[in-house]
Amino acid sequence: MGVFPISPRIVVIFLFVSLLRPTQCVGDDDKVLKIGFLVPLTDPYHMTMYTLGDPMAGAFDMAIEHANDLGFVDGYRVEYDWGDSYARINKGLQTIAWFRKNRYHGIIGPGNTCAFEARFASALNMAMIDYLCDEKEVSDKSIYSTYARTKPSFSEIAYAIVEVFKEYNWRRCTIVSSDDPNFVSMTDTVFELFEKNNIEVTNHRPFPGNYVPGMAMYSYDWDDTIRKTRQTTRIYLFLGSLVHHRHFIVNLYKAGVFSRDDTMVVTTSVDITFPGLQGYVKGVFDIDNNDIAMEAIKYSLVVEFRLPLIDYDDYVAFTDQYSRRTEYIFGGLGIGVDNRAFFLYDAVMQLCSALNQTIAEGGDITDGREVMSHVFDSTYQSKLAREAYIDENGDAFGEYELKAWRLYDMMTHFTFGRFFQENLVIGTDYGMIPIGKMYRNVSTANEW
Ligand SMILES: *[C@@H]1O[C@H](CO)[C@@H](O)[C@H](O)[C@H]1NC(C)=O
Ligand SMILES: *[C@@H]1O[C@H](CO)[C@@H](O)[C@H](O)[C@H]1NC(C)=O
Repeated sequence: MGVFPISPRIVVIFLFVSLLRPTQCVGDDDKVLKIGFLVPLTDPYHMTMYTLGDPMAGAFDMAIEHANDLGFVDGYRVEYDWGDSYARINKGLQTIAWFRKNRYHGIIGPGNTCAFEARFASALNMAMIDYLCDEKEVSDKSIYSTYARTKPSFSEIAYAIVEVFKEYNWRRCTIVSSDDPNFVSMTDTVFELFEKNNIEVTNHRPFPGNYVPGMAMYSYDWDDTIRKTRQTTRIYLFLGSLVHHRHFIVNLYKAGVFSRDDTMVVTTSVDITFPGLQGYVKGVFDIDNNDIAMEAIKYSLVVEFRLPLIDYDDYVAFTDQYSRRTEYIFGGLGIGVDNRAFFLYDAVMQLCSALNQTIAEGGDITDGREVMSHVFDSTYQSKLAREAYIDENGDAFGEYELKAWRLYDMMTHFTFGRFFQENLVIGTDYGMIPIGKMYRNVSTANEW
């Protein structure tokens, strides 16, 4: 089991770096690899929207430091500069042009949208590895020839869902889906794959992805959906956030839907959070329904992105490091946790490794396509503490887990307990325990 190399030594180096803040100026020494970092750190155009790059931006700096510690062939080292895209495509394009003009060897980003930016980078033959974007068209390497991404796309989870349906031999379901854009693209992919696999969707009920359970101002009433589907539905596929899922199953429970004992809810999330074993039942604003949620979740299965199997302490050390660097180096707030920082870290290491390999081969590090040829169709050791794969289209494969509400027994305690901070009583408490995993077979790329 891999454990992250987070040692006290790095903490000391960090203090040093934070005093120096030197990375803004990049020398034009021959042996310098220049990497540009594009990040939506702030969003001045939507004052209320939280920004994707904060708190994870600091993971970029961590990875650069790690790569320089590993060292490059021929005595090269990496320096970087960065730009806030303000979550604006034009600002991103301008920054890419600036990186190009100043002879950068590659870009990490843009970290939000990507189709325009990836196309521009490809036209300029600049290597670009992204850590957030979910747009579909960039998989086409005849156009986006220098672009890859380390975060598996949200819609890929649809393949894992199909596997679960096949495993249990479920042939029909009702889909309840959030109208949030990420879930809309996931829902489209689910429909496509269900049709191919002869799984019938008897009902489709979208719901507003921006409602907040327990807040009167942003409420949503499930009665109509439940009334119109309960007679004909045995399997609900819920495509929305875990908070909405909890609210939905609480309402199903209150309506008596589970009393028949033959109804299941399969759910998923794009949250990439680390909810712990019991986080699924704990409400944010409507905490008084926790007991009902604990009963209702017995009838749920969750298909989720598989999280790193690292000890809670190591996980906290990583998040602590990057959020502090976000604050000191990038001037962000550095508050909270975003697990997509793992993908940002991976993106940096992949670009560094590709440049390193290009140098080792005596290749041309200014040739984006040549550099990226080391990234496409390659496996690597991810910061997620497992092997990861980027296919020939530059898309990362995801690994997913199926979780069910199970007794927290001795076996579970030893297998999963140390990954979480919760104090669950062995033999008494229940939690959402992984019972299976789904991943694509790398050697037979499109099979699961
Ligand atoms: C660069 O390549 C050398 C030799 O293979 C290796 O030891 C080193 O870890 C690599 N560095 C990075 C940042 O990938
Ligand atoms: C992947 O597929 C190949 C060929 O079908 C098979 O030999 C191999 O065992 C599979 N690997 C995994 C991990 O399923």
